[in-house]
Amino acid sequence: MSNAPPSQPPPPVIPPPPTDGLRLNLGCGQNLRAGFVNVDKFGSPDVRHDLELFPWPFADSSAREVVLNHVLEHLGQQSDVFLGIVKELHRVCMNGAIVRIAVPHPRSDDFLNDPTHVRPITPVLWTAFSKRMNRFWGRIGAANSPLGLYLDVDFELGAVQLDLSPPWVKRMRDQKLTPAQLNESAAQYNNVVQQIRMEVIVLK
Ligand SMILES: C[S@@+](CC[C@H](N)C(=O)[O-])C[C@H]1O[C@@H](n2cnc3c(N)ncnc32)[C@H](O)[C@@H]1O
Repeated sequence: MSNAPPSQPPPPVIPPPPTDGLRLNLGCGQNLRAGFVNVDKFGSPDVRHDLELFPWPFADSSAREVVLNHVLEHLGQQSDVFLGIVKELHRVCMNGAIVRIAVPHPRSDDFLNDPTHVRPITPVLWTAFSKRMNRFWGRIGAANSPLGLYLDVDFELGAVQLDLSPPWVKRMRDQKLTPAQLNESAAQYNNVVQQIRMEVIVLK
């Protein structure tokens, strides 16, 4: 048997989604969702709460689904507050709960032009909160901060969808680019991807 460090992390083990429990629409703004507890620090939501203040007014393991639609990039300018939000998200969610996040792409004008955006939110960010990835990094000597282990939270990234800006939708529709060329463009240029939608699964 080889003592060499593994070159790949083990595959994630994803629990089935819970079938009952709260559905939270955090930072709902004026888009209240039926069947959800709509939460915001302004306006007339179901629950008025500042998500940067802890604890959130929900019991441990009470939520099966959380929606954060163009909200997370506004929260936690200070890293400690952002980490507190991640801890609260984990605390209020059930094992297998789905967190549905939509954000502007960090290299889009939609992200850059809003002074209340405090940090980019990317799919890869969630690997820092995955104990599976944190342990893998430990085994291979990677320098990444194992925030899942430090904070005792555990998340796995699920489906990711990239919504292209209109000119790039047209280029793809006209078959001017291969998917590989599109990925390269999105990594190099602004305003290729407008919005990122990602699902994050809570593990407990
Ligand atoms: C860009 S809007 C998105 C609103 C809504 N999710 C939607 O899709 O239309 C961001 C929302 O997050 C809310 N928000 C920002 N910081 C917040 C905080 N600390 N606590 C609660 N809500 C907050 C704002 O009040 C605002 O309604």
